[in-house]
Amino acid sequence: MLWTTLPRVMLLLLFFFFSLVLVAYLVKPLRSFFQSDMSLGASKAVVQVLCRPVTQTGYSEYLVNSSDLTLHSTFQVKCVKKKPPRHRHSIRCSSMLLSQLRRIHQLRPMGVSLVNYMNYSGSWLQTCKCQQSESASGITAGDGNGAWFVNNIETSNSVNNLANAKSIIEFQDVQQLKQEKVLTSKIANGTIPDSFSIEEEAWDLLRESIVHYCGSPIGTIAAKDPTSSNVLNYDQVFIRDFIPSGIAFLLKGEHDIVRNFILYTLQLQSWEKTMDCHSPGQGLMPASFKVRTVPLDGDDSATEEVLDPDFGEAAIGRVAPVDSGLWWIILLRAYGKCSGDLSVQERIDVQTGIKMILRLCLADGFDMFPTLLVTDGSCMIDRRMGIHGHPLEIQALFYSALLCAREMLTPEDGSADLIRALNNRLVALSFHIREYYWIDMKKLNEIYRYKTEEYSYDAVNKFNIYPDQISPWLVEWMPNKGGYLIGNLQPAHMDFRFFSLGNLWSVVNSLATMEQSHAILDLIEAKWSDLVAEMPFKICYPALEGQEWQIITGSDPKNTPWSYHNAGSWPTLLWQLTVACIKMNRPHIAAKAVEIAERRISRDKWPEYYDTKRSRFIGKQSRLFQTWSIAGYLVAKLLLTDPSKANILITEEDSELVNALITANPRGKRGRKNLKQTYIV
Ligand code: GLC
Repeated sequence: MLWTTLPRVMLLLLFFFFSLVLVAYLVKPLRSFFQSDMSLGASKAVVQVLCRPVTQTGYSEYLVNSSDLTLHSTFQVKCVKKKPPRHRHSIRCSSMLLSQLRRIHQLRPMGVSLVNYMNYSGSWLQTCKCQQSESASGITAGDGNGAWFVNNIETSNSVNNLANAKSIIEFQDVQQLKQEKVLTSKIANGTIPDSFSIEEEAWDLLRESIVHYCGSPIGTIAAKDPTSSNVLNYDQVFIRDFIPSGIAFLLKGEHDIVRNFILYTLQLQSWEKTMDCHSPGQGLMPASFKVRTVPLDGDDSATEEVLDPDFGEAAIGRVAPVDSGLWWIILLRAYGKCSGDLSVQERIDVQTGIKMILRLCLADGFDMFPTLLVTDGSCMIDRRMGIHGHPLEIQALFYSALLCAREMLTPEDGSADLIRALNNRLVALSFHIREYYWIDMKKLNEIYRYKTEEYSYDAVNKFNIYPDQISPWLVEWMPNKGGYLIGNLQPAHMDFRFFSLGNLWSVVNSLATMEQSHAILDLIEAKWSDLVAEMPFKICYPALEGQEWQIITGSDPKNTPWSYHNAGSWPTLLWQLTVACIKMNRPHIAAKAVEIAERRISRDKWPEYYDTKRSRFIGKQSRLFQTWSIAGYLVAKLLLTDPSKANILITEEDSELVNALITANPRGKRGRKNLKQTYIV
């Protein structure tokens, strides 16, 4: 028996061995083909072939040839071949396409998501259902009333770090029982609105704002205002607006929507995008996108869904959204930290996406400053408001994106230069902002006594600021205790307005020093009636008025004084305020603001912004049921309930950076010979 079966077994083993050798032989070249396809700049040839039919103006062929597109762009360009111009920019999802792509994907395991969607959507739909039913009743014991929460945090001054968060909650539990009786009567007589029901309502509204693509949740609509006849682009998913939504879902344990958002927007990143025959740099992320249902090619009876991004080519004012890519990197890190799923950030296409954003931001230009040079309206304030140049908000997001990217980039050959540039920029940027953007009473007095026209390497007044620029309002407004980072710095120009997002985010990411961060919160407390008043939080302070408003905004009727971007109040800023306060162990400040918002935000139907100096009116053209007002409130509540979760957004000061700052400190005496830095700091 043994003698008869042995040769058969040996034959089988031999066959098995040869199969293995054959597979290894075939797989190697395939893998190297895909890897090279994924790398930056390697897909040119593919793109050249595939893009030719798209040519319309005669320019696009040339423009596309100069692009660095990745694997997903190959697919994008391929599937838009036969489409009319408007839809050239869309990802589409149809059954035919999905089956084609499944084949591509099977060969290219790193390819993004239409196919991934096919592979995981079934299981997602199931999880989605149970998550939804879970969260419908998902109000935790900590989700108490705002006023009660303020009291507890104020009395728990012993909170020294985030690790103590647990004891806060235990303390709250005890306090909750004690105060329940008082609270019930306050709610009953209408002194305090019931925060349980506000939160419940907010979750319902947030879920209603979810946008699906091919059955998967991929984002949230900007506003779902049934009272507004002019939708404009508020029916789109805005990248920046989705950040608080994404964080709220992450904190609630619903990770899929964020994962999908990250991967689909990544696909949009490397689009062929043009405005009047001009293409912006590769790596740009859209401001927003829309899911459109269009007739299927060649089959009028069927429809398909397409993702249609807007990079500013349709946006009012045609502004390029510089902040989108920066926020995308910040959300990617938060997703990894919160879900524990690092596989997304480790994917080759995601790594490539990060690098494309970095390359775009770190590219050499004419600028002498380490700050990012941008046009007006390139961030949350997305129309003319005199924030061109080096606005603080962009610098704060840029700094965060650099830090987060450094944490997530996997070391590999070829990225050493990028990492070096990134590290250099972090040091230079940090020094520049801390040194030249900071003002408090002391610094203001220095500026007041500045000498001008100093031609030398050791000039004290490096930017030639004329002391007369110090506006009369600032002399009155600056508190004795506290300070802030100014809005913008240009040659002979300091924009002294207080911009909230830039200041708050500089606290969150440690761009501001510890002392500066505390001083910013001190200023917020000292100027509470200006910055919070009846609804948190002023987008900037003060408003541009009169001739200044005419010249700087171009007499913009939407940005009239104390309205909209011109010192209007935006409830969404509550979440950034909360993260900043938690980072500095002063959560009671945020809790107080949340309590103020709760008094009217739900009753006012979750407006986008409020007007007037004391934020008394719902904004003139404000949308109602604005998603990021809803999500911002929820994030603030969730984080105040569990402050340790703020870690997914916070970046602590890095000791390497501090050491580099000390060694590189250009404040010491230096002559031309000593000036070795790449950037002027
Ligand atoms: C407004 C805001 C912008 C926001 C958009 C959608 O344009 O200025 O920051 O992203 O509305 O809500």
